Amino acid sequence: METNKTTTIRPSCAKATAGRHLDPPAPRLRRAGTSTPRHLDTSTPRQLDPPSPRLWRAGTSTPRHLDTSTPRHLDNSTPRHLDTSTLLITGGSGFIGSNFIHYLFRLPHFTGKIINIDCLTYAGNPLNLTEIDEKYGGTRYFFEKVDITDHAALKTVFEKYEIDVIVHFAAESHVDRSIAGPAAFIRTNILGTFNLLELAREKWGSRRDVRFHHISTDEVYGSLNEAEVEAKFKEDTPYDPHSPYSASKASSDHLVRAYFHTYGLPVTLSNCSNNYGPWQFPEKLIPLMISNMLEEKALPVYGDGKNIRDWLYVDDHCSGIWAILEKGETGETYNIGGENEWTNIDLLNVLCEIVAEESSKAKDHYKKLITYVKDRAGHDRRYAIDCGKIKAELDWTQSVTFAEGLRRTVRWYLEHPEWIAAVKSGEYLRWIELNYDKR
Ligand code: NAD
Ligand code: DAU
Repeated sequence: METNKTTTIRPSCAKATAGRHLDPPAPRLRRAGTSTPRHLDTSTPRQLDPPSPRLWRAGTSTPRHLDTSTPRHLDNSTPRHLDTSTLLITGGSGFIGSNFIHYLFRLPHFTGKIINIDCLTYAGNPLNLTEIDEKYGGTRYFFEKVDITDHAALKTVFEKYEIDVIVHFAAESHVDRSIAGPAAFIRTNILGTFNLLELAREKWGSRRDVRFHHISTDEVYGSLNEAEVEAKFKEDTPYDPHSPYSASKASSDHLVRAYFHTYGLPVTLSNCSNNYGPWQFPEKLIPLMISNMLEEKALPVYGDGKNIRDWLYVDDHCSGIWAILEKGETGETYNIGGENEWTNIDLLNVLCEIVAEESSKAKDHYKKLITYVKDRAGHDRRYAIDCGKIKAELDWTQSVTFAEGLRRTVRWYLEHPEWIAAVKSGEYLRWIELNYDKR
């Protein structure tokens, strides 16, 4: 097996491609190779309850770390009603961004507008938002194909729209791609975030009835020891990023906090664990494995398969972001997680069984495709989020169990073969060849 090599293949903005509640996650870690975890069942998914409407409170709280005698941070601005705000969503055509836009339009009390800016890299897909565009395009939903690393182009968006809230998702997001080609990660994740912060500062001036919410990741905290089962990432865990991806995200987090402390820009941040759900690009573990199963291809498990991730259904991430926008305190960071730790191999075994069941195959049909391959360079062993703060302070909690979420996800991919076919473009095939063929 070969190690990864430097490549010219890199994400590019130039090329656009088109129940009921189950048992709570067991408080212990999954062991590789064990039988179906007990908190999985086949129950009917229950509907998510939309958050109740609340008044927008940005600007009403005093930033915790600031000297309260500093007047510019304490402007008494008129509270803005979040439900009628204009939100600028960056990276809205990607996995979480598009799910967030769907989530917003499902909220019965949200009557505001959404501006989606996305340069449509390989990971950005207009198909994710077809229904939204058909229903709200030109009235409440607007798309601008803009690269956030292009300051001038970005500025025109800030001049064109009155923006109350920025939710910043746009990023290069795949760890393996950051190992193969880190430059795009530095440009988009650091320079792109800097451009947005500068333009927000320029546009908003001393307004405090606004909000810049930055979406970040648990990967900035580094890796946990699998033996220390109780250890989890908290908001004050020191940063220790290990990949070019997580280092670039850490860098952007620091910039966002710097704009709060230095300029009083009303920011909030969230650091989330691994998401899964519909519209996730099939380079990430769960959709890659589902897609490979459907083509009867090898299921490549890195290393010993015992790395641990904390999985959260994407809608629960969305509700966490909304809770922060509604009730979060300016200047604060909130960790969001699934409290749902799985070794990769245990997860994959369960996924194989669900896909087999949903596609009328024998229970172990897909397990024979599991193939151990060379490990990811610098592979973080374990992530686990302590989300006690957002639960206690903002009354947020997960509402979709892993069993329910995995089944919904599998069904979504089975019901959308045209979406999978569309994203498996030439670029996708080149990436699969680069990352897996010589592994
Ligand atoms: P994704 O790769 O699916 O989507 C990223 C989107 O950003 C794409 O639509 C892409 O076209 C767009 N984009 C990339 N570069 C851009 C640029 N220069 N200008 C404009 N648009 C650009 O990513 P995702 O999984 O949806 O992640 C969204 C955010 O959430 C990222 O900031 C990521 O770090 C963070 N996050 C992701 C996860 C996860 O499990 N996926 C977990 C925690 C945090
Ligand atoms: O923790 C949050 C992060 O989760 C986000 O910030 C990232 O944007 C997102 O990509 C994700 O990062 P991971 O590296 O954890 O996700 P990925 O799906 O790439 O891999 C999950 C685990 O599965 C990891 O331990 C590597 C392993 N893996 C992944 C792939 C793609 C495999 O064993 N085989 C594979 O082919």
